[in-house]
Amino acid sequence: MVLEELKPFIKVVDTPLEVELEIPHLAYIEAKKREPKILLFTNPRDRGRPFEMPVVMNLFANREVVEAILGRPVEEIAKEIEELLKPTPPATLWEKVKFLGKLLPLRWTIPRRYRGSPRCQQQVWKGDEVDLFKLPVLKSWELDGGRFITIGQVYTRSLDGKIRNVGLYRLQLHSKNRLGLHWQIHKDGAHLFWEYKKAGKKMPVAVGIGGDPLYSWCATAPLPPGIFELALYGFIRRKPVQLAQCLTNPIEVPADLDIVIEGWCDPSQMEIEGMFGDHTGYYTLPEPFPVMEVTAITTARDPKYYATVVGKPPVEDKWLGYITERLFLPLLRTTIPDLVDYYLPENGVFHNLLLAKISPRYPGHSLQIAHALWGVGQMSFLKHAIFLPEEAPDLRKGEEVARFILNRFSPSALLISKGVVDQLDHSSDAPLVGGKVGVDATGPEVKREVTPLSDKELLKKMEEIDPQIVGVTQYFTDTANPVAVVEVVKREPMKKLFKKLAPLYPHLRIVIFINTPERENPYMLIWRVTNNIDGLRDIFIDGPVVGIDATNKGEIDNFPREWPPDVDPTPAVVQKLKELGLVELTDEELRKFQIV
Ligand SMILES: Cc1cc2nc3c(=O)[nH]c(=O)nc-3n(C[C@H](O)[C@H](O)[C@H](O)COP(=O)(O)O)c2cc1C
Repeated sequence: MVLEELKPFIKVVDTPLEVELEIPHLAYIEAKKREPKILLFTNPRDRGRPFEMPVVMNLFANREVVEAILGRPVEEIAKEIEELLKPTPPATLWEKVKFLGKLLPLRWTIPRRYRGSPRCQQQVWKGDEVDLFKLPVLKSWELDGGRFITIGQVYTRSLDGKIRNVGLYRLQLHSKNRLGLHWQIHKDGAHLFWEYKKAGKKMPVAVGIGGDPLYSWCATAPLPPGIFELALYGFIRRKPVQLAQCLTNPIEVPADLDIVIEGWCDPSQMEIEGMFGDHTGYYTLPEPFPVMEVTAITTARDPKYYATVVGKPPVEDKWLGYITERLFLPLLRTTIPDLVDYYLPENGVFHNLLLAKISPRYPGHSLQIAHALWGVGQMSFLKHAIFLPEEAPDLRKGEEVARFILNRFSPSALLISKGVVDQLDHSSDAPLVGGKVGVDATGPEVKREVTPLSDKELLKKMEEIDPQIVGVTQYFTDTANPVAVVEVVKREPMKKLFKKLAPLYPHLRIVIFINTPERENPYMLIWRVTNNIDGLRDIFIDGPVVGIDATNKGEIDNFPREWPPDVDPTPAVVQKLKELGLVELTDEELRKFQIV
């Protein structure tokens, strides 16, 4: 597939805009619209200096685009995968023939060698001509440590050359020929890197940009180590990927890419990477990561530079995550057969919240499934999982689901455990390891024994107890477990404040403490709470009442790490885009998504 096939979904922005902040801010705002478009920026600038290459952003703009890129509904592909994984034994000759037909797609999963001059090598810059700053690479956020390639497909191979891998990692431009490689410690890219490090050998790396849009999703697919993600490309496209040989290293890349950056990574050298405004909506703090020395940049004759912007949800990665969620359900079900369906809400940034429908058959079944999820591949990064029975409402119907859960919740439904967390998680006391929370909402409804007060009355009583409390908003007061969101100006750990509220416990069940502005914004509240808590430290139980400390942590809490800042747009840039008539969100929407 080529970009032109997505023409009906593309909005062209001819206004000259800067690659630093302006282009990414506009793409960020576009992603919050009800029907976002793919944006084609024809006039990218670097402090006024024009680039030759246009910039494409929000490629996975909306559901229709996703379907166009996949070529058919994602559910249809999921069904094809399921049938392959769980074939019903053929009984008749006709069924046997049909079954063989089902195996045919497997031949498309094996890459082919491209013959001829590949599109991705129509122009070649080598040696002194190499200059990464000739590409319109963006700086997304004001506090970013520099410019980052944000949708680069990073192709690597194992030391013995037998295993190919592609992963999507951000890449920081350290200089005109040095690129930071942000493969996180748990990822296959990092596993391969360690092989080279142990052997003391340089690792060949190639970064692909553009080409068939499906490559970018494949690079994000959490396939087990040893399986080349472009096998999925062949399966979905119904034709094998065609790989071309790089010019200055042994890596092979799809022949139709727009841009290829070739080079070598010396595993003995690390460089500080970041900060970077990340998809958690928080910055990730500077940390050492490997670096690639660029030996060649090759491009198509008419290359486009593709980029994405991450930050607070919703952003483009919601659609990348959606494809993964749907296509990986049949794979997960091979190890967890009683997992009926699941949903990773975008405001839970994928690893912070999962809602799952299961078919429980014995006590502790949900606990078993929770532990299975926390042990499998990248699902092990998941912090919070809520289990519902099959008859629960559609998992995407937020309010109905919340009401269903709250009517079945009691502190005994909580499982708090410990495990690996995403490298980007900022909430755990130590990096990479933290709390896990499971909630079993598969049981019967519980008795409603709470006597809620109005928000006004509750606030008055709370203020009398402690002036740290500056606001209260309650949700679902008609359920067995109303949720009181308590805004504080924090002067002491929230555990102490929770205890002080004991006289009010008859009116309370779930109390969430925040010191940020999401009290009346449920969408961003879920984002903040699931991001900020470490279940081992931040959940307090007293009888039927549960306190949750979702505040930003710091010295008051004896938090041993640096708490990162929020990712927020630069006000002057938003104002300029507004003055140029490019912002199509209402002021209310801009406020809801914390853009202003
Ligand atoms: C927009 C976007 C940016 C990403 N950036 C990174 C990154 O910088 N580092 C990383 O390790 N994973 C990143 N990921 C997730 C990986 O692409 C994903 O975990 C992938 O499965 C890793 O592949 P691997 O296990 O083959 O290395 C990103 C995902 C998306 C959608």
